[in-house]
Amino acid sequence: MTHMLAEGLADEEIIDNVMFMMVAAHDTTASLFTFLLRHLDGNRDAYGRVVAEQQEVARSKAPGEALSWDDLAKMKYTWSAAMETLRLVPPVFSMLKRAVEDVEFDGHLIPKGWQVLGAMNLTQQDPAIFPEPSRFEPARFESPIPPYSFVAFGGGARMCPGNEFTRVETLVAMHYIVTRFEWKLDEGCDGSFSRYPMPSPARGLLIDIEPIDTTTTGAAGISK
Ligand code: HEM
Repeated sequence: MTHMLAEGLADEEIIDNVMFMMVAAHDTTASLFTFLLRHLDGNRDAYGRVVAEQQEVARSKAPGEALSWDDLAKMKYTWSAAMETLRLVPPVFSMLKRAVEDVEFDGHLIPKGWQVLGAMNLTQQDPAIFPEPSRFEPARFESPIPPYSFVAFGGGARMCPGNEFTRVETLVAMHYIVTRFEWKLDEGCDGSFSRYPMPSPARGLLIDIEPIDTTTTGAAGISK
């Protein structure tokens, strides 16, 4: 049964919004984190740079002190690794847009009113912008890239409003996982994945993980 509040949303709209947020906010970030771990596990040089960056932040903190906005700004390489993960395995693989006027693109006319399906994983594989596009190379994002070539969060007026929040939660989670834990993916985890429609590793994400003994390594869980 649907109830309308005096000045508010109907129950159905509230349910619809909650369902949307669970997929748009939770599943997307879970997918990013899953594939970030996978790519770092398979690219030890990149992982070494992430660990070094996070250890430097951890060393600057007093025992028990929380991360600050300034700390997040120092995590540039870690965020480049997350963007590179979103480039290779975008959680949202396509989006529909409507042409608000006639558009000519590459000799083709897209008439006003037509719907266009943009495919993130094709746009983000352009070798003219991302040489050797299938290679995991976070350093690509250390220099500016042309607008609308990285579209994991969409683009334009309806671009994902959660992108900054994603950055915060991803960087905070990565900080603790690399400074407080030793981890390694199980050898059975290969690179394959399927989409339902979010990408999910075909053989799961089995991980060997152990807390680092902070009594011997300091509060941040790392050697000073
Ligand atoms: C890795 C994480 C995420 C990815 C890859 C992602 C991707 C996207 C994409 C592709 C769109 C459509 C954009 C367009 O049409 O141009 C979108 C829309 C949206 N996202 Fe995200 N998202 C992520 C995280 C989040 C989070 C954490 C939140 C909320 C806390 C969120 C809330 C939304 C909302 C409300 C919309 C609809 C915006 C609108 O239609 O105006 N997303 N997201």
